[in-house]
Amino acid sequence: MAGKLKKLRDSVLRRIIDRLSQSSAELVDSDPTLNAGMITLCREAATEGIVLLRNDGTLPLQRSRVAVFGRVQVDYLVVGYGSGGDVKSPYRRNLLDALVDSDVAVDEELATRYREWTAANPVDEGHWGSWPFSFPEMPLDDDMVRSAASRADAAIVVIGRAAGESRENKLEPGSYYLTEEELAMLAAVTTEFARTIVVLDTGNVVDMAWLGEFGERISAVVLAWQGGMEAGNAVADVLSGAANPSGRLTATIAARYEDYPTAENFGHRTFNNYAEDIFVGYRYFETFAPDRVLFPFGFGLSYTTFSVSPVVSIDHDSVTVTATVTNTGERAGKHVIQAYYRASAGALAQPARQLAGFAKTDLLGPGQSETVTIAFPVSQMASFDDSGATGHADAYVLEAGEYEIFVGADVRSAARVGAHTVSAPTVTRQLTESCAPDPAHPFQRMTLSHDGAQRAVPAWEATPTRTRADRRSRVLAQLPDGVPLTGDVGITLGDVRDGTASLEQFVAQLTPAELEALTRGDRVMNSALGTPGNAGVFGGTVESLRVKGVPAITTTDGPSGIRLAAYASLLPCGTALASTWNTSLLEELARNHGQEMRHKKTDVLLSPGMNIQRDPLCGRNFEYFSEDPVVSGKTASAIVAGIQAAGVAACPKHLACNNQETNRSRNDSRVSQRALREIYLRGFEICVVESRPRVMMTSYNKINGVWAHYNDDLVTTILRNEWGFDGVVITDWWMQRAHDPDFPGLRDNAYRVRGQVDVLMPGGMRGLRRDKTDSSLLDSYGRADGVTLGEMQRSATNVLTFALGVPRSTD
Ligand code: BGC
Repeated sequence: MAGKLKKLRDSVLRRIIDRLSQSSAELVDSDPTLNAGMITLCREAATEGIVLLRNDGTLPLQRSRVAVFGRVQVDYLVVGYGSGGDVKSPYRRNLLDALVDSDVAVDEELATRYREWTAANPVDEGHWGSWPFSFPEMPLDDDMVRSAASRADAAIVVIGRAAGESRENKLEPGSYYLTEEELAMLAAVTTEFARTIVVLDTGNVVDMAWLGEFGERISAVVLAWQGGMEAGNAVADVLSGAANPSGRLTATIAARYEDYPTAENFGHRTFNNYAEDIFVGYRYFETFAPDRVLFPFGFGLSYTTFSVSPVVSIDHDSVTVTATVTNTGERAGKHVIQAYYRASAGALAQPARQLAGFAKTDLLGPGQSETVTIAFPVSQMASFDDSGATGHADAYVLEAGEYEIFVGADVRSAARVGAHTVSAPTVTRQLTESCAPDPAHPFQRMTLSHDGAQRAVPAWEATPTRTRADRRSRVLAQLPDGVPLTGDVGITLGDVRDGTASLEQFVAQLTPAELEALTRGDRVMNSALGTPGNAGVFGGTVESLRVKGVPAITTTDGPSGIRLAAYASLLPCGTALASTWNTSLLEELARNHGQEMRHKKTDVLLSPGMNIQRDPLCGRNFEYFSEDPVVSGKTASAIVAGIQAAGVAACPKHLACNNQETNRSRNDSRVSQRALREIYLRGFEICVVESRPRVMMTSYNKINGVWAHYNDDLVTTILRNEWGFDGVVITDWWMQRAHDPDFPGLRDNAYRVRGQVDVLMPGGMRGLRRDKTDSSLLDSYGRADGVTLGEMQRSATNVLTFALGVPRSTD
């Protein structure tokens, strides 16, 4: 009994501590000045991320008089909750204020009612993990709506949804569904007004079945996402016509939640079988269920029209799509050209479409043209064979046959422009079995079959499971040689930077205790060694390292801004950024953001968040980019390149399969190697290869039974050896205790370091006093099978290489 009580007490205490340590830091720096460039770029990105889903010509509003409904016009949701949104922006521009300052005439009488009611009924933002999904609406009576209709030409109804870390969206009114009050508001407004525009202020895709109910009574739908501190201005720009919308969906909007292929296998506490396999999002809908789609992947309207004449040229190694885009309408606008392929179906099932690349035009005036190019290697169309069905197990294979190329404005309307024929099966990359599903947990995965009418229908097959059992010998064969300890010979990191000593010589001086200190952060969030409000500090965590010139490296969340105890810019949420499909704009925004990091004194931004939006209910989808890995990878690459151009570092997260929040640190994502490589790792791979992030964060969850922070298949075999990542790998905040199944006696931090997950963040261990160092690493050092000097020096070297690149105050 006493044991039980102690367990309960510990778990309650742990929860309290977790909550407190994740809570927001007090504002200490009251200078609200932001760089003007950031403000302009945030507005531009928020505007370009807005997706116009429907328009019968009502938009743009020009100089119309509008009545605005919905409390969110005042209490505008500019970002989601949790580490990805907790930024102290000096202001948050709401929609009502922005509209009042635009060309649109806002009905003041209704606006005053909303201002007064929202002031009298402030929102309760709750606390960590129990934030509201939506806010109660102001009750409307028919007279109020009727009299507003007599004064205005059109109505805007603003609907807001929030989500956040540590929990999912729910299949409930107020979260995924509209509430009774919101439906009543739409009913009343669409009855009285001839034209109603719905603005969706949300970070996640929400149910849109109500569109069917209200039909053409809803003239326009604007999916505004959560646009950061400039959100209101961005939406007002689009509504008024000051800007022409050019955002495109990065995820499919299905008719009903149950239509998503993940619906049965999402949100379970202990494990989730990724049974849909590679048929995620549009890969499923376009192949099997096109009629279950309300708005297809890639879709978005404009106030102008474009003509596109694509030409495709294919040689042996690469596909090049060249498209001349002409603005054939009357307003300046930007267009997004998307290239898809359909791989030849042989032994491996293939989706009807896969995005190969995309390009966005500059702003084209009426009659103006631009030629854009999308080029990709033929090898990008290869598939990963995890069963050996092609005769080439664990390899990327181009099966023989025709590879069709499609170009268009979205996945559905993209038209065939050519094809490439592969005459004989070709292995483009031979890899090794890694992160394969556990034979103890078999599951069926979706594949493709045909019905009597030759229509594609889902079929099921056994997911191939692990066949290799040689991890122990593989790891032992790769153990690094250490450098013999020399003791302190007076070399500083400055000497290494100046070239008077080598890094190896510097490392040789470090004691095991100093090496241990380099493999973990300073134990707590908001470490006194870093900039106030930091997420944690690593590097010079102990005095003896700092004396040798190792700096304390400050990390901060990410992704929507710099989460510190000082004011900082609040960027549009990740989904809004990705919906721009404008990588050069994102790179420029990120470059300015990197400069803001320099100014605010942080070294690593825990961003971008780039997990695949596998299911619309995931609570952190707002931080992430897309259901598609190419959009995710290219968006992340642009952001990483921009941040790092400013001399600071980005840290993509969470590698990998952190696709839900339910029980996120214990959940097992059970997924085939093919889906892992083609969907869940692909974006990370693109980002690592193209932009070389200097830091990478592993995820909380397990992948096929192995926690990502212990996973040497993931971190050593794939990330480092295959993709060539040479930076620092850090854990997500804290980690689970575990014994290494292949090395008895190796546990916790020793198990982690063996997997080349260099740094435990923020550095403390659950259940251990904040000022105490966990002993698992040093306990195992020198023991049979224990962590070796070389392994500790390897992780330390990764950290020190990073430290050498940290800008000094004189830089
Ligand atoms: C989140 C990370 C975040 C970290 C530090 C974790 O709970 O999953 O995305 O960077 O906290 O705040």
